[in-house]
Amino acid sequence: MLANGIEMLKKAKAGHYAVGQFNINNLEWTKAILQVAEELKAPVILGVSEGAGKYMGGFATVAAMVAAMDKELKISVPVCTHLDHGTYEGAYKCVKAGFTSIMFDGSHYPIEENIWKTKELTHVAHNLGMSIEAEVGAIGGEEDGVIGMGECADPDECKKIADLGVDMLAAGIGNIHGKYPANWKGLSFETLAAVQAKTGEMPLVLHGGSGIPEDMIRKAITLGVSKINVNTECQLSFAEATRKYIEAGKDLEGKGFDPRKLLAPGVEAIKETVRQKIKLFGSDGKA
Ligand code: 13P
Repeated sequence: MLANGIEMLKKAKAGHYAVGQFNINNLEWTKAILQVAEELKAPVILGVSEGAGKYMGGFATVAAMVAAMDKELKISVPVCTHLDHGTYEGAYKCVKAGFTSIMFDGSHYPIEENIWKTKELTHVAHNLGMSIEAEVGAIGGEEDGVIGMGECADPDECKKIADLGVDMLAAGIGNIHGKYPANWKGLSFETLAAVQAKTGEMPLVLHGGSGIPEDMIRKAITLGVSKINVNTECQLSFAEATRKYIEAGKDLEGKGFDPRKLLAPGVEAIKETVRQKIKLFGSDGKA
């Protein structure tokens, strides 16, 4: 059932769990995530970066695929189609394409520019029944060619953006997209607590959810994180399972080269990763 992110995040905030955002890259990813969300009765957010949207043939293609799959597979749990790290222009494209939610990432702009662009897009999104995520303080690492330095957000700037009425806020707390380096210092719980103290009931978003130790995830949820984004871990588990299949020569046996067979182990691996994350985040049984 397609939905925006407003209700699901309010419920997560009140229930002290986090909704998983799993980024999609193609049809297999989308189907795997929807099936596990339904199996575990968990609300779910499908994240689409601008690069992945382009790869899949454009945002309208993605919106149509998710809507059709949601219907054909009779998905009863709330499913949110959400732009991930959107530009100002990309956010408008997703509004037009029929997404249910957008993220506008203005974290690299001076705060005043981030404020006016977020304010305008919040107005547009809410008028159309969509939810909106904003960002303050860049997330570290690289995603789709955008390099962030992993700075911690300024809680006062977070309050200014939260006061615009956004539905969820991504605040940098030392988190990094992609694999965490061996010398990573961990999440800054001090920053997280300070941001939540300034922003009241605002559902906070933890990007770079792949590879964060489970105890840190649990602590982040107790301190106000209501949405956690995962992309790299699904990619790694898909790649590993696919490599094993090919290295074992299974694609050369019988009709093992049929894409439905070739991609099956990778799909199962994505499903298992999503299953584990949903249980860790505590969103199973919450739909
Ligand atoms: P990871 O790829 O590190 O899981 O991060 C995903 C993310 O934050 C998407 O916005």
